[in-house]
Amino acid sequence: MRNSKITRKIIQGMYVLTTNGGGCIVDAVSQISAGDNPLIAVSVMKKNYTNQLLKKNSKFALSVLGKQVDKEMIKTFGFQTSSEVDKLSLFDTLEIDGTSIIKDSLGYMVCEIVTIIENDTHTLFIGKLIEGDVFSNQDAMSYQYYQKNKEELLKITTPKGKTYFVCTICGYIYEGDNLPSDFTCPKCGVGAELFEKKEQ
Ligand SMILES: Cc1cc2nc3c(=O)[nH]c(=O)nc-3n(C[C@H](O)[C@H](O)[C@H](O)COP(=O)(O)O)c2cc1C
Repeated sequence: MRNSKITRKIIQGMYVLTTNGGGCIVDAVSQISAGDNPLIAVSVMKKNYTNQLLKKNSKFALSVLGKQVDKEMIKTFGFQTSSEVDKLSLFDTLEIDGTSIIKDSLGYMVCEIVTIIENDTHTLFIGKLIEGDVFSNQDAMSYQYYQKNKEELLKITTPKGKTYFVCTICGYIYEGDNLPSDFTCPKCGVGAELFEKKEQ
């Protein structure tokens, strides 16, 4: 492989994926057909609790995040697990077709799951859009915007003079002077080569 970082040029958005019982932040979302009820695909890590929930439920919803989103939303849905935290109770939600969606979003899509495809690290859930609405025409947050601004968005606070390593994929912070070469990100599973060294 000459440079796998080319995949970072794929423009993706930022969403809160919800289903009965919880949800998580996702960027791996794509519209894969057209028409009034297009198919929407979302790729969910097998180790995420949301993956288990989706397999028990018939629907999922995607709430589209704007650039002004409450920072706690990314921290809660992107770095905690619904198996331990009732994430949906911490934010204002609306109940649409039996699925909770995030009020502080640019709008939502509710999809009925039609196909589930197991891949290596992720499961692809394909859903048919059955309901949707636009709350705001502000700019959506792209994954690239998140990457550029994640230190501000996640309000990283490390003591002055300390060295730390940031996962360039999900923003996880490893504090320490040296990152072991066999380290894998506990949040998104990538290796040490995708961490950037920073000093305060
Ligand atoms: C910016 C960002 C993008 C993410 N994208 C995805 C994604 O596309 N698919 C996925 O499965 N997890 C993704 N995650 C990770 C999950 O949101 C995270 O592991 C979450 O804590 C899982 O929660 P759960 O155990 O309640 O499912 C992303 C996290 C962040 C911060």
